[in-house]
Amino acid sequence: MNAIETHGLKKQFGKIVAVNDLNLSVEEGKIYGFLGPNGAGKSTTISMLMGFTKPNGGSAKVLGYDIITQHYEIRKLTGYLPERPAFYENMTGADNMQYFGKLIGAEDLEQRIPELLAQVGLEGRGDDRVKGYSHGMRQRLGIAIALLGNPKLLILDEPTTGLDPQGSHDIREIIRKLKKDNVTIFLSSHILHEVQEISDVVGIIKAGHMLVQTPIENFLRSSKGTLAAFEISSPMIDDRFVETARKVKGVESASILDGRLHLTMDEPAVAEDVNAALVGAGFRVREIKEIVPTLEDAFLKVIGEKKEG
Ligand SMILES: Nc1ncnc2c1ncn2[C@@H]1O[C@H](COP(=O)(O)OP(=O)(O)O)[C@@H](O)[C@H]1O
Ligand SMILES: [Mg+2]
Repeated sequence: MNAIETHGLKKQFGKIVAVNDLNLSVEEGKIYGFLGPNGAGKSTTISMLMGFTKPNGGSAKVLGYDIITQHYEIRKLTGYLPERPAFYENMTGADNMQYFGKLIGAEDLEQRIPELLAQVGLEGRGDDRVKGYSHGMRQRLGIAIALLGNPKLLILDEPTTGLDPQGSHDIREIIRKLKKDNVTIFLSSHILHEVQEISDVVGIIKAGHMLVQTPIENFLRSSKGTLAAFEISSPMIDDRFVETARKVKGVESASILDGRLHLTMDEPAVAEDVNAALVGAGFRVREIKEIVPTLEDAFLKVIGEKKEG
């Protein structure tokens, strides 16, 4: 069974089509990166999955339950971190957990609360009032609350947006550990490298529509047959060097990164043509090395391709 499955899901706000004919399938036990620019329809999708917003069309199941008729079951089994979690500011973190825990009928709260506070890195801070919490602490508390009911599925809406690198890193670590406990993670984000680092499967949504949904290795390896990326070092890389490489047939992009020329191309064989062109133009090429393409390389390519199509 898939943890999440949608068929032709649609949501319209007046004339704005926020989600359009969306087909998602999220396998159990995986980390699914739900990626898309601001306004793409990520939060609206999540809101429908949780049963907070009714779709205008299509259907969806979460953990086998229908989002329209069985959202009570879904909410009981699913942990959810909203884009902007709200707490009782004058209450302590632990008391907020107590309150929200009772609301969902979570068990063993006396034991679970300190455990979860430690799990999200808030040990020692549970007795402070939330109004004094930093943004990062609020996200951690939000995740702790989402975990109160021992969920099988955790839906996180942009959990690291606005966090510093350490804070984002810590949240990714929490997510990785949860995966080990067999929790399915649905992670919405617009931060490419973060999704690349952590996800098993990636779904890219743009203007409410799914552009591509695939295991991340496949995506990085092939968005048009093969996506290959190379780094070229040379004692002197100038504009003419970059232009010479860029003009070679099959080269998709060329840019200077950390003093080396970073190229993406249709297929690895193109690298030989680049080498020949550079040498032919009188440049010295010290090294050509194949590198793993980044999600950003693939993302720009997919978005570009679909635009033309
Ligand atoms: N309650 C609403 N009323 C009207 N328009 C909305 C509402 N919620 C979202 N939208 C619109 O739907 C589109 C998708 O928004 P959203 O799902 O929040 O995107 P994302 O989470 O990917 O940034 C946007 O154009 C947004 O302005
Ligand atoms: Mg959003």
